[in-house]
Amino acid sequence: MKILVTGAGGQVGTALQARAPAHGLDIIALDRQALDITDASAVAAAVRDNRPDLVINAAAYTAVDKAEAETEKAFAINADGAEYLAQAAKAAAIPLLHISTDFVFDGRKTGAYVETDAIAPLNVYGASKAAGEARIAATLEKHIILRTAWVFGGVQNFVNTMLRLGETHKELSIVDDQRGGPTASHDIADTLLRIAKQVQAPGFDDFGLYHYCGAPAVTWFGFAEAIFRGRETPKLTPIPTESYPVPATRPKNSVLDCSRIKRVFDIDQPDWQAALSRILDQQ
Ligand SMILES: NC(=O)c1ccc[n+]([C@@H]2O[C@H](COP(=O)([O-])OP(=O)(O)OC[C@H]3O[C@@H](n4cnc5c(N)ncnc54)[C@H](OP(=O)(O)O)[C@@H]3O)[C@@H](O)[C@H]2O)c1
Repeated sequence: MKILVTGAGGQVGTALQARAPAHGLDIIALDRQALDITDASAVAAAVRDNRPDLVINAAAYTAVDKAEAETEKAFAINADGAEYLAQAAKAAAIPLLHISTDFVFDGRKTGAYVETDAIAPLNVYGASKAAGEARIAATLEKHIILRTAWVFGGVQNFVNTMLRLGETHKELSIVDDQRGGPTASHDIADTLLRIAKQVQAPGFDDFGLYHYCGAPAVTWFGFAEAIFRGRETPKLTPIPTESYPVPATRPKNSVLDCSRIKRVFDIDQPDWQAALSRILDQQ
């Protein structure tokens, strides 16, 4: 089975390439240089010419704060690009696996969000991702949208930011009133590749929206404590969101309920602390 991956240079894109051999799957890896997903005709040609059995879209505009000033760019990549991929997949009669975000929610719910909860993004990035979800769902029946959260395991993420800041700061103030489920890029890749196989099974018809994030839920402060555990640690101070002003508003609660993915695909929530230890051990 041959899978075309867009955004192959990103955290999840890189992890998909690393994990594919273990799943016995071939990847056609296209980074942004090889395929700009905002170019509709290039997207159509890439899917037509490579003849994949399935497409995974790991390309996205992910700069949450910058998006507030780059609305058009965020929507071009996260909404238009997603739709072009859905159109190309439809023309080839193959499924599209797409990744979305916990930031489609406003965070006012007390418990974990299920797939049927209403979305209400608080920032441009979340709105652009929500638009991408809607465009895919309206274009292509054979789609899986995997909402995930707080991705780490690549180059640019909270873990590496903390380690970098830890080298130069004696004290760090970290937001302690936003809760989510950190998720390792390798776990997301394994999940997407397992799903890729299962959706090809004859008679599969559980396409649609799924939640997938790491457990247990934690705040950014709790995540930072885990990152520094066992190393030389700067003094960590928990602070409220209001004390760390940034351009984009974030949801206070973006914990995702992952029971649907367990029920349909038998995929468990990953333990982010175990994944974090593995990643830190390799550094
Ligand atoms: N990171 C998170 O915390 C997080 C949380 C929830 C959900 N997600 C979702 O998870 C998915 C993967 O995220 P990630 O963390 O792997 O992001 P990432 O590391 O930022 O990777 C995204 C990749 O997309 C590429 N890209 C940007 N514009 C493109 C375009 N027009 N055409 C083709 N490729 C383009 C980027 O290339 P350049 O670097 O060259 O621009 C980058 O390699 C995304 O859908 C994201 O929205 C991420």
